[in-house]
Amino acid sequence: MNAQLTPALSHDELDAFWMPFTANRQFKAQPRMLARAQGMHYWTDDGREVLDGVAGLWCVNAGHARREITEAVTKQLGTMEFAPTFQMGHPIAFELANRLADLAPPGMDRIFFTNSGSESVDTALKIAIAYHRARGAGQRTRLIGREKGYHGVGFGGMSVGGMVNNRKTFGASMVPGVDHLPHTLDIEHNAFTRGLPQWGAHLANELERLIALHDASTIAAVIVEPISGSAGVILPPVGYLKRLREICDKHEIVLIFDEVITGFGRVGKPFASLAFDVTPDLMTTAKGLTNGSIPMGAVFAQRKIYDAFMQGPENSIELFHGYTYSAHPVACAAALATLDIYAKEGLLTRAASLAGEWENAVHSMRGLPHVIDVRNCGLIGAVELEPRAGKPGARAFEVFLKCFERGVMVRQTGDVIAMSPPLIIESKQIAKLVETLSSVIRDTA
Ligand SMILES: Cc1ncc(COP(=O)(O)O)c(C=O)c1O
Repeated sequence: MNAQLTPALSHDELDAFWMPFTANRQFKAQPRMLARAQGMHYWTDDGREVLDGVAGLWCVNAGHARREITEAVTKQLGTMEFAPTFQMGHPIAFELANRLADLAPPGMDRIFFTNSGSESVDTALKIAIAYHRARGAGQRTRLIGREKGYHGVGFGGMSVGGMVNNRKTFGASMVPGVDHLPHTLDIEHNAFTRGLPQWGAHLANELERLIALHDASTIAAVIVEPISGSAGVILPPVGYLKRLREICDKHEIVLIFDEVITGFGRVGKPFASLAFDVTPDLMTTAKGLTNGSIPMGAVFAQRKIYDAFMQGPENSIELFHGYTYSAHPVACAAALATLDIYAKEGLLTRAASLAGEWENAVHSMRGLPHVIDVRNCGLIGAVELEPRAGKPGARAFEVFLKCFERGVMVRQTGDVIAMSPPLIIESKQIAKLVETLSSVIRDTA
């Protein structure tokens, strides 16, 4: 028997916490409680070991409970637990910005700190609009996102996002003046492609159609995830992102890459923009920035964007935007310790060396019952299942539950099972992850 790690909560004790993005009633009837974490594993409250196949929520890239981060956070809490960054500064905020600038794609060396991916997205959208105004093109306020995109849950991110369930409840409350590109998922053409699909670069030309409709002079920015994670791992066709870049350049539109999940080594380079060799104007990050330990996000901006704001009287605030906790000292300490671990252990490029083995492992699930597609890039993998008639998502949810019962945590979205393990994963753990998922898929009608 496993030892009970924490006392089990009674049913009444589960009521108060309104859980995010969760089937609350299902969970509270059948709780899945995590009590401890170390390295590649969680342990449940009743002491069961669970292999983490999703790096928590795509964020614990260096594995759990890293001593160096704990020590840095503890030290910072004892030195200065908080300091404002409005009209004040503290040294490690600048140190962190410099360290991030060194990792960044070419020219993206101006960093604005936030506390989450959603805040990074809303910050980037606001910077794009304000940038055009600063350069005398204040009529450019329109934003273009993409179907099936996920950019967090703020009003801006929700509006440019394209996941129906995240949008439909909020109807007319969306930010006005937003349009969407078509998504790039096409199982008919690209099923079981290893890595990036060859078919679909032409879908970027839809941006020209939207520009013809709205006129470039009204458009501030285009925002896309280099790889969509939340909608079920949707990969950019070869050449697609480059084409978006060209069209944005031609029409002076700010290109934003949302790298909240692809940032910090997920696809074998520090950022997907480096892996795919396409540099955006703004880049949003969060999650892996602190290894998930303390909430923090960062928006990377091209220097030309920052410079456009640096005009007018020197004692006037250039951008009326920021959060009480922007560059929170404890988060900065966590991020610096995280970057040290990434550098010391080569984690920002480790996914590239594991990518071949990972690809073979996830594609071994082709041919299993109900599997209609397998997708992969870097250390990201997805298996798409045929939906049950009239019950979208039900089959994959059952697979997710059974995997957890059998000691493996994956992520379910719609009828897709997504995997994004910590970048420290070893071969035997890749094998366990895929063997467990395969056996569950075989056992699920
Ligand atoms: C691409 C992308 N953008 C934004 C977000 C939102 O991040 P957060 O949940 O930290 O607000 C996420 C979260 O998964 C994401 O995947």
